[in-house]
Amino acid sequence: MRQTDLREFRQYCAHPQRIAWAVAEAHGQRSICPLGWHMDTSMSPPMMAISVAPERFTHELIVTSGEFVLAWPGEDLAAATLFCGTRRGDAVDKFAELGLTPVRGRHVSAPLVAECLANLECRVAGQLTSGDHTIFIGEILDVWLHENPQRLLCSIGREAGYDFLLERGAYRFGVITR
Ligand SMILES: Cc1cc2nc3c(=O)[nH]c(=O)nc-3n(C[C@H](O)[C@H](O)[C@H](O)COP(=O)(O)O)c2cc1C
Repeated sequence: MRQTDLREFRQYCAHPQRIAWAVAEAHGQRSICPLGWHMDTSMSPPMMAISVAPERFTHELIVTSGEFVLAWPGEDLAAATLFCGTRRGDAVDKFAELGLTPVRGRHVSAPLVAECLANLECRVAGQLTSGDHTIFIGEILDVWLHENPQRLLCSIGREAGYDFLLERGAYRFGVITR
């Protein structure tokens, strides 16, 4: 063992990291917030947790509505993920700007994203402050899968095993090599 820092640990352990989009809507506004920080937390009832910084517009929308959709982009949405992950949704309608198709789900007001490979309708069942982020625990009320599955978009490192898609600043996207 040798002592090191968190940056080296993350380079070693954090990849691949599947990207999910938190989609939320309230008072006629909506946004898409790409997330690397998400996890399954319960089988019954089915639950997932997401970690969202309070300064995100999506944070405000989730607190107001008590709901969100967790949408899972495929390899064709790397550039869209970069766009959504570097702009605030109160300044731009990300659906309109990217030509994404909002679809009404069955349980929550936030839209599903037709172009994503999977969509989960979630209702907030609890929240917890974790340092500079808020963990929202979402009970999964419904599950939607695309008819035409592709590979899921990931944040990747520089090691072998990925097909590289796009890199900008600290963000590097790819998919797991088949
Ligand atoms: C690959 C990637 C992963 C991200 N992961 C997170 C995350 O886990 N939590 C978070 O709060 N922000 C995360 N972000 C940043 C938000 O997506 C970004 O601030 C976004 O513009 C917020 O949009 P909004 O202000 O409309 O909600 C990530 C961005 C990218 C590109």
